[in-house]
Parts: sequence; structure tokens; C-alpha cells
Amino acid sequence: MNKKVITTCLAACSIVAGLSLIPVSGIMAQDPGRPELTLNGGSKGPVYFKHQLHQAVVEDCAVCHKDFEKKTGALDDAKKTGALKAKQVMNKTCLVCHRAKRKAGEKSGPTSCNACHS
Ligand code: HEC
Ligand code: HEC
Ligand code: HEC
Repeated sequence: MNKKVITTCLAACSIVAGLSLIPVSGIMAQDPGRPELTLNGGSKGPVYFKHQLHQAVVEDCAVCHKDFEKKTGALDDAKKTGALKAKQVMNKTCLVCHRAKRKAGEKSGPTSCNACHS
């Protein structure tokens, strides 16, 4: 094999290898959404929520997103269709975790109404 053939082969191989990495990195780079957001808290008033802080302390996205999609407005949409009951996420996800962590003596979030709703 002469030098030119080897060079051509190396160039072609690296293109193939490069292309095959694109879908892999596409899966790895999951959209984390907004770092902070305000949730609709109905008659009790809005709930300010630190999304990024929770991604760091909770780690598994599914703890929350098992109940609603990773899409802005998904929580309200799921309540409108009846897929989620009013206060279901508040009671079964947010408060369950905050109470358990508090009980275990770990760093936790608020458990009183006005500490979340404003
Ligand atoms: C403690 C609960 C919780 C955890 C854990 C969590 N999320 Fe979310 N996420 C939410 C809430 C609440 C919303 C807002 C949904 C809405 O607007 O109705 C949201 C919305 C989103 C959105 C939509 C864009 C936006 O900013 O509204 C994306 C994308 C998203 N999350 C990605 C993730 C990923 C990726 C992870 C894991 C690394 C994760 N989330 C972990 C609660 C959580
Ligand atoms: C850890 C934060 C947190 C605490 C503490 C909390 N809430 Fe909520 N609340 C939420 C979130 C998030 C929602 C929206 C999601 C849902 O409906 O599950 C909500 C929704 C609501 C709604 C609207 C439900 C609807 O769809 O019409 C009411 C009313 C409400 N909360 C009352 C209360 C009362 C009363 C208390 C105290 C006993 C309380 N909340 C404590 C986070 C909290
Ligand atoms: C699996 C556990 C877990 C779940 C689920 C969870 N939280 Fe928390 N939350 C925490 C922990 C731990 C902290 C304390 C983090 C810190 O201060 O470092 C916290 C802190 C908070 C704070 C105070 C943030 C600050 O420093 O100002 C609020 C408000 C809050 N959570 C709201 C919510 C709401 C609303 C939900 C539901 C949509 C929710 N959390 C779901 C574990 C959880």
C-alpha cells in the first residue's frame, strides 16, 4: 500500500467513526430545562421552584417526571386531562420527599403551605 492509499483510508475511517458518535452524544446531552421556574399553585398562589437545585439533590429525573412530561406546562396539562389529580404532585412527590428527609435529619425543603406558595 502506498502512502496516499493509507491517508485516504484514515480520513474515511475517521469520518465514519465521527458520524457514529453523533447519535450517542445526542442521547447523553439531555435537555435539563429551565434552572428555575414558577409553578401554578391554584388558589393558594404560585410556587417558586429551583429545578436545577433539585436535579442536583434528587439526581433521578423520573422521581418527578414519571408523572408529567419534560415539557413546559406539562403538569397543568396532566391536571386538565385528569391524568393527575389536583395537589397530587404536591402531596405524593414534593411533600413526601421533604418530610422523609426532615425525619431522617437530612437537609430538606419546606413542608408548610406558605413556605412554598406565595
Ligand atoms: C423535583 C422534581 C423534578 C426533578 C427531579 C426534575 N424535574 Fe424537570 N421539571 C420539573 C417541573 C415541576 C417542571 C415544570 C413542568 C411544567 O411546566 O408543568 C419540569 C420541567 C422540565 C422540562 C421542560 C422545560 C421547562 O423548563 O419547563 C425539562 C426539559 C426537564 N424538566 C428536564 C428534566 C431533567 C433532564 C431532569 C433530570 C436530570 C429533571 N427535569 C428533573 C420537576 C423536576
Ligand atoms: C413543597 C412545596 C409545597 C407545599 C409545602 C405546599 N404546596 Fe400546595 N402545591 C405545590 C405544588 C408544586 C402545586 C402544583 C402541583 C399539584 O397540584 O400537585 C401545589 C398546588 C396546590 C393547590 C392547587 C391545586 C389545584 O390544582 O387546584 C392548592 C389549593 C394547594 N397547593 C394548597 C396547599 C396547602 C393548603 C398547603 C399546606 C397544607 C400546601 N399547598 C403546601 C407545592 C406545595
Ligand atoms: C426526592 C426529594 C425531593 C423532591 C421530590 C422534591 N424536593 Fe424540594 N427539596 C429537596 C431537598 C433535599 C431540598 C434542600 C436542598 C438544599 O437546600 O440544598 C429541597 C428544597 C426545596 C425548596 C427550597 C429551595 C431553596 O433553597 O430556596 C423548595 C421551595 C422546594 N424544595 C420545593 C419543591 C417542590 C415544589 C417539589 C415538587 C415539585 C419538590 N421540592 C420536590 C428534596 C426534594
